[in-house]
Amino acid sequence: MRIGILTGGGDCPGLNAVISSVARRSWDHGHELLGFKYGWRGVIDDDVMPLNLDNVRGIMREGGTILRSSGDNPAHGGDRPERAMATIKKHDVDALIVIGGEGTMKGALTMSRDFGLPVVGVPKTIDNDLPGTELTVGFDSALAIATEALDRLATTAESHDRVMVCEVMGRTAGWLAMYAGIAGGADVILLPEMDLTVEEAAAIITKRHGQGRDSSLIVVGEGYTLRSSTGIFDGHEIEHELDAYGYPRLGGVSNHVARAVEAITGFETRVTILGHVQRGGPPTARDRALASRFGFLAADLVHNGEYGKLVAQVGRDVMAVPLEETEGDARVVPEEIFEFVRSFMG
Ligand code: F6P
Repeated sequence: MRIGILTGGGDCPGLNAVISSVARRSWDHGHELLGFKYGWRGVIDDDVMPLNLDNVRGIMREGGTILRSSGDNPAHGGDRPERAMATIKKHDVDALIVIGGEGTMKGALTMSRDFGLPVVGVPKTIDNDLPGTELTVGFDSALAIATEALDRLATTAESHDRVMVCEVMGRTAGWLAMYAGIAGGADVILLPEMDLTVEEAAAIITKRHGQGRDSSLIVVGEGYTLRSSTGIFDGHEIEHELDAYGYPRLGGVSNHVARAVEAITGFETRVTILGHVQRGGPPTARDRALASRFGFLAADLVHNGEYGKLVAQVGRDVMAVPLEETEGDARVVPEEIFEFVRSFMG
């Protein structure tokens, strides 16, 4: 068989580890691999690269993706699906392994449903918000970076009696903010899913400082919408510009949170927006292990002709679930966990 492989959407640590694991297992099965560059764009525009021992050896520990990535995919319409199919035929590709998040899987479903393309999906995103799996490649690495950032902010906050607001990525899902906040000892955790107001956040800080603390940490997920119970801090909705594919470019809510907290508490409040630092650098050991398990199973699914599947973490198991499970709303922090999150604040 000739198996195509691509990495789509925002990059993250662990993509190369998936590629490496798919490659090893596929070669063991006697198959050949063809890389498509820049995600689905490489399939649409016929941009390919051979994958062999020379360019795959040693990439497990490398961040980014040797295949490069973009957000384009056949679900964006036009003649994309037909062009993608023509490329698949031209290169005699028998099946395609797509490593990506929600947008990339939409493209996979379009091609599988409308054109019968044999596909298998591998979930990745630092946001950990893809439905169908409890864990995505990249999340653990981003979490480690965000947690370390909070550890570092804590000591400088202490030296200067400051309140530090740290904004983490995650889009509408608060997984990164929640676990980084808990692990990094944040005193206030503002998730997109929870309707905590800036007045409540400020009250937590004021109380702490009344009890003898001189510094505090606030972590905020980029998708948090500033809420003000008094209405004083309303009107700070951010107009996010849209990227080329219509997704809002989030970021910046922490500035408004900091201004409100400083105004209410009177404590100097500073902002750090972690941004793409969370997506760069080498994957954690856990992400390498997850990527290896996912890649191995994806290669086996293709070898056995089991298409239209997503490899997924379900409970303690790595298993195949229908690709359709990736459809629908983002997997966000559920309400029953809110009390758990609140117990770490203050
Ligand atoms: O989906 C992953 C992610 O890193 C989000 O957390 C973030 O909002 C977005 O991608 C940033 O995307 P870009 O790199 O295209 O600006």
